[in-house]
Amino acid sequence: MSHADDHAGTRRDFLYYATAGAGAVATGAAVWPLVNQMNPSADVRALSTIRVDVSGVSEGSQITVQWLGKPVFIRRRTAEEIEEGRAVSLNDLIDPIARNANIQGAAEATDENRTLDEAGEWLVMMGVCTHLGCVPLGDGAGDFDGWFCPCHGSHYDTAGRIRRGPAPENLHVPAAEFVDDTTILLG
Ligand code: FES
Repeated sequence: MSHADDHAGTRRDFLYYATAGAGAVATGAAVWPLVNQMNPSADVRALSTIRVDVSGVSEGSQITVQWLGKPVFIRRRTAEEIEEGRAVSLNDLIDPIARNANIQGAAEATDENRTLDEAGEWLVMMGVCTHLGCVPLGDGAGDFDGWFCPCHGSHYDTAGRIRRGPAPENLHVPAAEFVDDTTILLG
């Protein structure tokens, strides 16, 4: 999905809620409890965290989920991908910062600082190119076996770190945690 499509989707949603709200208010005070449940802040609260069942994600594959109107990539990496990500020297990175919302401060962009679990099997990232916001292609795409953004040619490695092209930052890692063996909580 392109950035433009993404934006159009958000706008449609906004128009839908605005129209529904105006109609409900016009019918009178009796419907207030319903209107109150549907108001934007309740909406935003409900969407600010989501649980993702990853029991069906096999090694070497990934899923994309929508969260807060944006794609999130959840990848279960292979041993080769982990090894490749961990072998990269920090000196070779364009962006030396982890960009991981789960780590306080400006941690280094080591492979270990980007993954969800200690073994480095699970990588969760916003599917938004840090150049101008396109959705990169995954599954080993690009020159560094990770993700590739075809909009202007940004190559990300197996840990989602920018390695070549115009994107200035590594793909961002959102707040996420395992709440049980097969469920990831986003947000
Ligand atoms: S938006 Fe990805 S390279 Fe420009």
